[in-house]
Amino acid sequence: FAQQKLAGRRVVITAGPTREPIDPVRFLSNHSSGKMGYALARAAMEQGAETVLISGPVQLTPPDGVVLIKVETAQEMLAAAEQQAAGADVFIGAAAVADYRPVACADQKLKKTDTTDWQLPLTQNPDIIASVARLGQRPKMVIGFAAETERVAEHARSKLTRKALDLVIANDVSRPDIGFNSDHNAVLLVDVEGDTALPMASKHVVAQHIVAAAAEWLAKGDRV
Ligand code: C5P
Repeated sequence: FAQQKLAGRRVVITAGPTREPIDPVRFLSNHSSGKMGYALARAAMEQGAETVLISGPVQLTPPDGVVLIKVETAQEMLAAAEQQAAGADVFIGAAAVADYRPVACADQKLKKTDTTDWQLPLTQNPDIIASVARLGQRPKMVIGFAAETERVAEHARSKLTRKALDLVIANDVSRPDIGFNSDHNAVLLVDVEGDTALPMASKHVVAQHIVAAAAEWLAKGDRV
């Protein structure tokens, strides 16, 4: 049978949402299901990679053989990502990291007051993939996602440059039939050489394409 394309390679993937605590019982988060990241972990395992999955809270079972690191906050995800990605072959940022977190987490449950309005001070979270792409021991290939609602290719390309990525997987989240909670996705692969559209397929098939693109990139690097 076909040779495994990522044998001897180390692949690190972030997946799912992050949770940013407000107090002991409340948090800010988003609707990320983690399906794309878990599909990537499965596809990387199929190709024989040593696979590390850094996951926010999701309702999914990781594929057999994957090293699962569970995190909650963006700061925890950043610490795990920097540690695991150093010297890795491929890093894939599939997590939907909360852009902002509460400035502080209250020690006790916050009480409802008489005022109808409530201001919650927020501060920006670190950009995990951009930090990984600038590590001293940078992974050979850093792959990011771009969920866009308009001018998909253009926004993905600016992400490629701004975050120092090697490949951006872009999808149009204004389409109700694909993306976020769906089992299907239709994506555009954007790198310095151009854009390649993949037809709508299951997240597993899309993940297999992305993993194949990564294997090809690594093989090219070995030849030069
Ligand atoms: O800037 P934007 O959030 O659209 O970029 C999406 C890409 O960046 C995804 O690969 C996501 O996992 C990653 N990201 C990250 N840390 C953040 C925000 C996004 O790693 N704080």
